[in-house]
Amino acid sequence: MNKADSSLNGWDDPFAVAVPAATRSLFNTGGIAPALKTAEMVVPPPVAPEKKTLLAEQDIASLPPINPEDKRIVNAKTDINQLAPFKYPWGWEFFLNANKNHWTPLDINMSRDIHDFHHRLTTEERHVYTNVLAYLTTSDILAMRNIGLAVMEKMSAPELQIYQARQVYEEALHTWTYQHCIETIGLDQSEIYNRYRVVPEIHGKIRLANARLSSVLRSDLNLDNRDDLEQFAMSYLFFAAIFEGCWFYNGFSPIFALQRRGLMTGTGEQLQYILRDEVQHCAFGLRVVRQLLQEESLRLDPKAVQALFEESEAAEGAYAHYLLKEPILGYSAEDHIGQFRFVANRRAKQLQLPEPFPGATNKLDWLDEQASMRKEKNFFETRVTEYQTGASLSW
Ligand SMILES: [Fe+2]
Ligand SMILES: [Fe+2]
Repeated sequence: MNKADSSLNGWDDPFAVAVPAATRSLFNTGGIAPALKTAEMVVPPPVAPEKKTLLAEQDIASLPPINPEDKRIVNAKTDINQLAPFKYPWGWEFFLNANKNHWTPLDINMSRDIHDFHHRLTTEERHVYTNVLAYLTTSDILAMRNIGLAVMEKMSAPELQIYQARQVYEEALHTWTYQHCIETIGLDQSEIYNRYRVVPEIHGKIRLANARLSSVLRSDLNLDNRDDLEQFAMSYLFFAAIFEGCWFYNGFSPIFALQRRGLMTGTGEQLQYILRDEVQHCAFGLRVVRQLLQEESLRLDPKAVQALFEESEAAEGAYAHYLLKEPILGYSAEDHIGQFRFVANRRAKQLQLPEPFPGATNKLDWLDEQASMRKEKNFFETRVTEYQTGASLSW
């Protein structure tokens, strides 16, 4: 045995693990441990396999295949390590769809944004731009923590967890995107990231989201308990329908309003990519919540749901008035709040719930098309990036 072989010390020998320490040192003849005296060289007799092992194997062999009908959104009573057969094939479809969409913030040219921010934006527009980024940077970290820490671990079907694992990555990618914008434009990072702690109108939204997240991060949360289950459903409903479905959806619209006028087009394009992800996160979350309510025969208190929409509207209203103390060209606080109400009605409808803001109208009729990316490519000649590598996403 040469020196190199002897120094292996048996670490890569699976049988070495079962050998008692004293005997193991027999192999350590390379100077690592002193050789044993002849009298100490006692090799234990081979151990016969225990009957128990054979029985266990028999038990496993006799397990019937899982029945997909036994899968549940939460509290499944079946093996949760089997992807298929699916009970929720749509969960897997979301995952496949998400994997058609790849970009990184480095793919998008930001050079015009540097010039625009420092030489073309008005003071009011710079206020809008930096505060939108300040809100988003904090929000996406919250979104990542919610789905990764509070939601995914409670799902008991792997086809749902797998899409959520992708979602966690996407939220991290969004955070990278804002950081890339902040660095590229040359903003003061510590000031931007701290803004939600010093601006009450930004803090108001973050506080609501933090409270919902904390309510389901409790270690004593028990989903067999109906009250806890309802709390979880309300929290996920808030994150999917409002936090992602409204606050992100029209949270980007002030930047899209600049982008429509040929300003900050790189940032606008970054947010178009993010919005596509957020729309999928929202659609998936709403589907999970609907399925959860149905499976658990859970009926949410309509007053509590209405109150949730109303407190979110109040927080959004305060934020909009802070953001747009002075309206910018083509965009005002009233437009922003009106659009929130309109989109909130859309989310409630998707949940088969009554509209929280009857009569709200579409204030930003350009938003859906702007958000869909097609127009921007044609009008402002930004980098033509195909957002997806496969068949079209439904929009
Ligand atoms: Fe996100
Ligand atoms: Fe999201």
